[in-house]
Amino acid sequence: MLRYLSAGESHGPELTVIVEGMPSGLAVSKAAIDEQLRRRQQGYGRGLRMKIETDQVEVTSGVRFGKTLGSPITLHVVNKDFVHWTDRMAVWDEAPDNLKQVTRPRPGHADLAGAIKYDHEDIRNVLERASARNTATMVAAGALARQLLRHFGIDITAHVVEIGGVQAKQVPTDWDTLISTCDESQVRTADKAAEAAMIARIDEAKEKGDTVGGVFEVIIRGCPIGLGSYVHPDRKLDGQLAAAMMSIQAIKGVEIGLGFEAARRFGSEVHDAIVHDGSRYLRPTNGAGGLEGGVTNGEPIVLRVAMKPISTLYQPLASVNMATKQAEPATVERSDYCAVPAASVVGENVAAWVIAQAFLDKFSGDSIAQIEEQVAAYARRVAGR
Ligand SMILES: Cc1cc2nc3c(=O)[nH]c(=O)nc-3n(C[C@H](O)[C@H](O)[C@H](O)COP(=O)(O)O)c2cc1C
Repeated sequence: MLRYLSAGESHGPELTVIVEGMPSGLAVSKAAIDEQLRRRQQGYGRGLRMKIETDQVEVTSGVRFGKTLGSPITLHVVNKDFVHWTDRMAVWDEAPDNLKQVTRPRPGHADLAGAIKYDHEDIRNVLERASARNTATMVAAGALARQLLRHFGIDITAHVVEIGGVQAKQVPTDWDTLISTCDESQVRTADKAAEAAMIARIDEAKEKGDTVGGVFEVIIRGCPIGLGSYVHPDRKLDGQLAAAMMSIQAIKGVEIGLGFEAARRFGSEVHDAIVHDGSRYLRPTNGAGGLEGGVTNGEPIVLRVAMKPISTLYQPLASVNMATKQAEPATVERSDYCAVPAASVVGENVAAWVIAQAFLDKFSGDSIAQIEEQVAAYARRVAGR
């Protein structure tokens, strides 16, 4: 079983991830993890924090001479900003006398519910962990997982299809063009024509002290038929992917394939006919988004993921000072105006993690060589069906 635990506060000394269940013998690279961490920090509409942090991973266990050992892998990402917070985020020292507590919860954030649930007077104790800074740990774990997937020919990408109501319309279908166009785009969209309007929408929000959300699409190609299962609800891969996406901060909706659009059409306009080209089964369309019965069907997996606008507003909404119960504007933390491009990178890596789990569930083994044997045997079996 592939699993991980993460720890770390947003302005604490570092973020830590322990990955367990990665098979031995996989060649992994620090550069590949750093590249995903770098991508997460990009995108038009980010706040000042991203100028302070240049995330890099340190690995302190589970890897020797660039190959996994099969033992737990510990990943560290240092928070450079901690140097500005050593007194306010001290682990052992007494709180400084002049400590300003956060007492005015932001609507849309975990502040109010978290303060009540964990009995905190200082909402900083909530927001430090609820913060999307923790998405760096999701990306670090996912970046490791995608190296496993790459070894077995599975690739993942994501592109932004909507920001603040501005939609991408002309999206290249060729994989490499899609990736290169997004990489060049400040908002990670593949529609060059929509890019300027998306940026204008973010500028409009910024001018008003407001924020915007959007939608991104994650595409996973190269999965064999048979990852996931229909036999029990918690083994359905569509459910696992949706749960994982919904676990990313600010994600409020997930569609698979045609998603909600399928509910508006006749069945004949939704389902994908089955053909055989002499060597394998194919689908001329992919309305199912690569998943039927919670099982991969060999077509690309397509997820569309909706992100709400950032909840910290520079023109804050009404709130209540929890110390006095007086009406006051919500607190303002240094914040992004739009993080949909970054969230799309998080989505890619979170999807990689879930697919890697499903992959190792189907092709279990303690070493890469053992898994390769299983993958090859399964491919031979499938070819005869
Ligand atoms: C990449 C990314 C960056 C984010 N940046 C911010 C931010 O700067 N300020 C903020 O208030 N929320 C930000 N969020 C969203 C909050 O973390 C999130 O809304 C909050 O934790 C409450 O969780 P919920 O929206 O899932 O209910 C970000 C989310 C993501 C995915």
